[in-house]
Amino acid sequence: MGGARRVLVGVTGGIAAYKVPPLVRLLRKSGCEVKVVLTAAAKPLVGAEALRVLSGNPVHTDDNPARYDMDHIRLSEWASVYLICPATANTIAKMAAGIADNLLTALTLSIPEEKIIVAPAMNRVMWANKATLTNVGVLTSRGVTVLPVGEGELACGVRGPGRMIEIDEIAKRVVELMDKIDRNDGVSAVDIDANTATFKGKTVLISSGPTEEPIDPVRVITNKSSGKMGAALAKAALATGARVTVVSGPASEPLPSGVEVVRVKTAAEMAAAMGERFASADVCVMAAAVSDYRPATPFHSKIHRSEKENITLELTPNPDILAALGAVKTPKQILVGFSLESGDDVDRAEAKMRKKGCDMMVFNRADTAVGGSDTVMTLLFADGGREAFPKMSKTAAAELILGKALKRVAAKVA
Ligand code: CTP
Repeated sequence: MGGARRVLVGVTGGIAAYKVPPLVRLLRKSGCEVKVVLTAAAKPLVGAEALRVLSGNPVHTDDNPARYDMDHIRLSEWASVYLICPATANTIAKMAAGIADNLLTALTLSIPEEKIIVAPAMNRVMWANKATLTNVGVLTSRGVTVLPVGEGELACGVRGPGRMIEIDEIAKRVVELMDKIDRNDGVSAVDIDANTATFKGKTVLISSGPTEEPIDPVRVITNKSSGKMGAALAKAALATGARVTVVSGPASEPLPSGVEVVRVKTAAEMAAAMGERFASADVCVMAAAVSDYRPATPFHSKIHRSEKENITLELTPNPDILAALGAVKTPKQILVGFSLESGDDVDRAEAKMRKKGCDMMVFNRADTAVGGSDTVMTLLFADGGREAFPKMSKTAAAELILGKALKRVAAKVA
């Protein structure tokens, strides 16, 4: 390809199509040649003539059947990268199924997946729909780069995840994808932005797994945390060249070799172990599912069964480890918390981030994260912004979280 920067932009019928003309300008300014394909549904939403002038090339549509066959071969050979922007739930579904019922979708079958980058934009309910999440998962597993969606007011008037991310961010990701293709170092299915070389000598401290609070010598209060996210974070942190310590509650998930492991059981033990090590950490991720309460007075011997009487267990609150770390954090440290909520309440996660003094919060819905190998997360940043991601493996999620955290460490050092 010899460094050619040729961006084919496929526009589908989402209201965010009105942002494509300024995006085309941005891409041209950053040295790209641009050609545009419009679906029939996109045409009323964006001016084809404006796109022709801004791109400096004819705009391609389904109008001229005679040109159709030629176009999809010529354009697919021309493109260094194929950006679908905005990508509606409908087009994402067609791409997942391999349907080619217009020029735009026919091109998705003629261009290698590694060159395709998708900027979804839709209503939050459609974004959260299981069919959409599955379709996005299918695309990413095939090597298509699916950008996250933004949070905020949607065209339908409600707030939530689903809006297209900002056009300067899209332009940046397109250029990054072309750089990756040029370097021929493979393409990541998710937008990992860790710069691995920078993190040698940095220390990452991770808490992982559940805690166990004794009721009596044989019974405990615990939760369903598997330790999978903590283990994935440890692996991702090791891969960046960082020194890694994991303070782990009783979880069976194996931790990678090369990691310092501190085993604990109770929240109090975890608080002590994290407190001792926090000062020397550059990044600290509290992925543990800490029990909020413990029995006020554990029984010294086994509680015996009675068929007649109820028993009452008095619970007392455990220390909030994350809040305690947030209170002593220095400006150079990055503190990441997890927020598990029963519904879609991202604002509650935002409030937790502020209250506990975190730089980043990983919002997970309880029904999509606990115990399994996949997760659906939204990342919240104290320095501004939210990014909602489609369903992905905990491995990919951990790489993303670590990438974002370490990038912020690098920014503070620079
Ligand atoms: N956390 C902590 N110590 C606790 C409880 C939670 O350090 N005693 C941390 C968790 O590791 C997580 C974050 O705080 O990173 C949020 O945990 P979560 O259970 O979502 O929130 P809580 O603060 O427990 O609030 P609530 O249960 O009311 O949602």
